[in-house]
Amino acid sequence: MVATLYVCVTCLAGEDRETVPRAGRRLHDALADAQRLQDELPNFRIVEAECLSNCNRGCSVALTGPGRWSYVYGDLDEALVDDLLTGASRYAATKDGLVPWRERPVIFRKGVIARIPPFPRPV
Ligand code: FES
Repeated sequence: MVATLYVCVTCLAGEDRETVPRAGRRLHDALADAQRLQDELPNFRIVEAECLSNCNRGCSVALTGPGRWSYVYGDLDEALVDDLLTGASRYAATKDGLVPWRERPVIFRKGVIARIPPFPRPV
């Protein structure tokens, strides 16, 4: 695996704090289930995270990988699972995390919260 999709499992996405499971947990589980059902072996892994500091625009995920730009996305929900898997797979297929704009799912174009440069090489 060359990339990781972190999924915030504590996001409420505007729901009541007592709602169980939380919206973020439902998104994570839907992503993991859908990835398991794919015919091809995944080129990224899905990992739980607790809060990506984007709580007002949850559900939230982050994409990262060695030598790659990293991204935080928000305003997500379970209906976007297919687009998220497609976008993460395209991200993992790059060397630097820079997917051409037209190849990014709409949710990756509109829902990006932040992007972080790759970790610098030692000087
Ligand atoms: S609880 Fe999900 S970003 Fe904070």
